[in-house]
Amino acid sequence: MEQWNDLAFARSWAERNTDDSTERRQPLDPLQRIVSDHLASGSVPARVLDLGCGHGVIAACILHELPRVALVGVDGSPPMLELACERLAPFADRCVLAQADFETMTPTDLPGGPFGVAVAVQSIHDSSDEGKKRALASVHAVLAPSGLFLLLDRVRLATPALFGAYRSVWEALGSAFYSQQREGGTLAEHVHSVAERGDKPGSLEQNLLWLREAGFDEVAVLYVIGVRALIAAVVR
Ligand SMILES: C[S@@+](CC[C@H](N)C(=O)[O-])C[C@H]1O[C@@H](n2cnc3c(N)ncnc32)[C@H](O)[C@@H]1O
Repeated sequence: MEQWNDLAFARSWAERNTDDSTERRQPLDPLQRIVSDHLASGSVPARVLDLGCGHGVIAACILHELPRVALVGVDGSPPMLELACERLAPFADRCVLAQADFETMTPTDLPGGPFGVAVAVQSIHDSSDEGKKRALASVHAVLAPSGLFLLLDRVRLATPALFGAYRSVWEALGSAFYSQQREGGTLAEHVHSVAERGDKPGSLEQNLLWLREAGFDEVAVLYVIGVRALIAAVVR
């Protein structure tokens, strides 16, 4: 079970999850490109919200690449925020960190808006469905008009009868699909590995529905690899 409030766990997770591994860059490169392009359009404020910012790896990439952007990172875990604070020290004049829990989140937990872009990377799948919905509604409330939300997260494999088809794809992709070993060779192994980490991902359809229910006007799946999806949602 992932123990985000435990400093030793947080440190060890952070060491294994840097910004430069192939497994991390695969979905992060497109996400970062979208953030840059959307902000470059000049139609939204140059402010980014990183929801579930963890140890600040994604925030650091954004702040490094976009020198005129300010960023607010929010996370529920004091140890992860401590690691983020260390990592983001060089950007202290453009970055604010805040602690808040998705399970009780309201828009007031997300200071510094309205934001031109918000991202949530591998963070909301840890909370209950109610928590996910609260987080999505809160993000929606603090986005500027034309603001873009990018949700990059694990999605639940919701079609057990199709597990074999998933596995065939993972095997065919080989090393291009980084999570092959972690996802299990059988459905039972897959379900066990998700549960063991304490992950509670929604299915792709649920995520799309929750985003629409949160008030987003247009929602699209941009990229899916294995059981991870990059979803974009926009406020008109
Ligand atoms: C897998 S890490 C991802 C961190 C970062 N987004 C990244 O991709 O490097 C998940 C993060 O979500 C945070 N998190 C999990 N459940 C949360 C909750 N209920 N409220 C707020 N943050 C939560 C954890 O503390 C952790 O920092």
